[in-house]
Amino acid sequence: MTTEPSQIPVEDLTEESAALELERLAKEILRHDALYHGGDAPEISDAAYDALRRRNLAVEQAFPDLVREDSPSRRVGFVALDKFEKITHSIPMLSLANAFSDEDVADFRDSVARFLKLEVPPVLTAEPKIDGLSLSLRYEDGRLVSAATRGDGVVGENVTTNARTISDIPSVLAGEDIPQVVEVRGEVYMTKQAFQAMNAKLEAEGKPLYVNPRNTAAGSLRQLDSAITAQRPLRFFAYAWGEISAVPRATQMEMVALLGEWGFKTNPLMQRFGELEPLLEHYHAIEESRADLAYDIDGVVYKVDDLALQARLGMRSNSPRWAIAHKFPAEKAWTLLKEIEIQIGRTGALTPVARLEPVTVGGVVVTNATLHNEDYIKGIGNDGQPIRDGKDLCAGDTVMIQRAGDVIPQILDTDLEKRPKDSKPFEFPTVCPACGSHAVREINAQTGRKDSVRRCTGGLICPAQAVERLKHFVGRNAFDIEGLGDKQVEAFYTEGMIMNAADIFTLKDRDARSLKKLKDKEGWGETSAKNLFESIDARRDIALYRFIFGLGIRHVGEQTAKDLARAYGDIDAFSAAMKKLAAGDEEAQEELIAIDGIGSTVAFALKEFFAEPRNVDVYDALLDQVRPQPAEQAASDSPVAGKTVVFTGSLEKMTRDEAKAMAERLGAKVSGSVSSKTDLVVAGPGAGSKLKKAAELGVETIDEDGWFELVGQA
Ligand code: IVH
Repeated sequence: MTTEPSQIPVEDLTEESAALELERLAKEILRHDALYHGGDAPEISDAAYDALRRRNLAVEQAFPDLVREDSPSRRVGFVALDKFEKITHSIPMLSLANAFSDEDVADFRDSVARFLKLEVPPVLTAEPKIDGLSLSLRYEDGRLVSAATRGDGVVGENVTTNARTISDIPSVLAGEDIPQVVEVRGEVYMTKQAFQAMNAKLEAEGKPLYVNPRNTAAGSLRQLDSAITAQRPLRFFAYAWGEISAVPRATQMEMVALLGEWGFKTNPLMQRFGELEPLLEHYHAIEESRADLAYDIDGVVYKVDDLALQARLGMRSNSPRWAIAHKFPAEKAWTLLKEIEIQIGRTGALTPVARLEPVTVGGVVVTNATLHNEDYIKGIGNDGQPIRDGKDLCAGDTVMIQRAGDVIPQILDTDLEKRPKDSKPFEFPTVCPACGSHAVREINAQTGRKDSVRRCTGGLICPAQAVERLKHFVGRNAFDIEGLGDKQVEAFYTEGMIMNAADIFTLKDRDARSLKKLKDKEGWGETSAKNLFESIDARRDIALYRFIFGLGIRHVGEQTAKDLARAYGDIDAFSAAMKKLAAGDEEAQEELIAIDGIGSTVAFALKEFFAEPRNVDVYDALLDQVRPQPAEQAASDSPVAGKTVVFTGSLEKMTRDEAKAMAERLGAKVSGSVSSKTDLVVAGPGAGSKLKKAAELGVETIDEDGWFELVGQA
């Protein structure tokens, strides 16, 4: 018989062929589910997927006795399981700053000492940086109640059921001093051996192989079917904690030992050092043993041992000041530079990208590398000095690639002896390949030098910029619209269905037509269209900073957007200020520049954006559709939240940096000068003109002890 089982009409199936068919469908659908949810590229369109499920149902209806235990139709709450529930971390899961050299580590120790005004740098712990994925385990009264992945650091995925299948994770804590609430944090990983064994099995079955232990561990943990996770040999090292109702030990080292007593695996290579030299020796020893370790590591993490000092050091926006990751040197490999392509960014930057003959560097297949800008291709660095000994890059070159951690791969060198005789120097385009407008290198107003970046001057008429702006708008740190990825954005733009951000939100309304179009289009089933509209609707209420960041204004990154959102508070104040700014209002300009973190470059970019009527049209249309939510004031229960504080004179119990960080942690804004906007002046001995000015303006003034009393830390 040549007919595939799936093509036999249901009414023609025999009992035997129906059973076979159901078995095939169960496997097939499970595989597509795994591909889809694992974040890998789906192999089939939603329409084809929907057809598989419909076929499964139809066969089951015809042969109700044959419904399988593992039938896709029996998977409870399949729709709800579409994705993991979200968990907001009660304390964010931070990342780590990086050090790439011994000098960077020495600088880190010195900066910590400076920040704390210590004569000698504090004791540091040193332990391997495990190359896995971090997990936060919440225990209440010693029992595991939830497990969450890091996600974006603020919101992760609820993988509790899966975490319970990992034997290194105790479901009940043992031993003493167990806080009522404790979030134990650490790394889920897979041993190199287990990874190889899994791949050997897959190879024997003729299935596609996994890339590296880290991705395999991630894929295994993020399985919707925890039975699959249970079969994967996942391991866990505990090395940190999040929320904790009481901290039972005084140092990092003792806390980790306690985690061990509670029943966790902790890393045996962790040690502490008072001096730099033995610390670095330990780093190099770990580096040398790297190949012999059972698991992958990508560096060594140093942490200030004393927890009281950790608390004083606090954190930057994304990483603690008391820890740093000393990364192992990047791995390198030679390969062929096949072609140099130009990509156009959201703000018109023409960025050259190297298309490479795929090569494995440090366990990851690299196919592209950034070439930064036209000088970089010519062998000239940003400072005008030669790079790669001044050697240029041409298509056809044999080049050395370096990949350092998650950083985009770089081209370190080119082998001129292998350069083909007929190769020509790369000619950087002077017109935009997407819209044909001139592409120019502006003169930087501040340095007076030619900008290293060539930019398309097409602005709003350039389709490539428009698409990039849309991708940015729906991206994870902006509107984060699920189901609207790069590919979909490109397709909607090409179809003329979404030309700007506001169009996204009117898609459904314009829709009897577009829904049909959507459905007919390859890759869109009825379910996926419905899901898309739901995820779009879910983002109509949006944090103000995400809204501002989403606009994609040049120089307005996420942190700047947060600064703006916090300063203006709500969308009406922001809109009013921006419109005034665009109209040349000087007060609006001054108010803007007075915001901590905002300088003239950002102010100019905002003014330029809002002075363009077509931008304002889209902005207004967008505001008809979405409701930006007032910015949250940090730590709103603190008595200094939202206040502007000035520290002056010499402080004795804390350093200036520490004072600033503490105030910001409590939601205050710290300013360097006293004005009518100042709410509070904290003055130490020797305070002069600022204290006088405060008195003139009638601003409340307290001393350092008063400060500690005020913030409840006396
Ligand atoms: S400490 C507050 N210790 O590295 C900092 N992190 O690049 C908490 N990681 O997200 C992290 N091994 O997933 C710490 N021994 C270790 C680690 C480690 C691996 C990961 C962790 C973190 C990432 C930051």
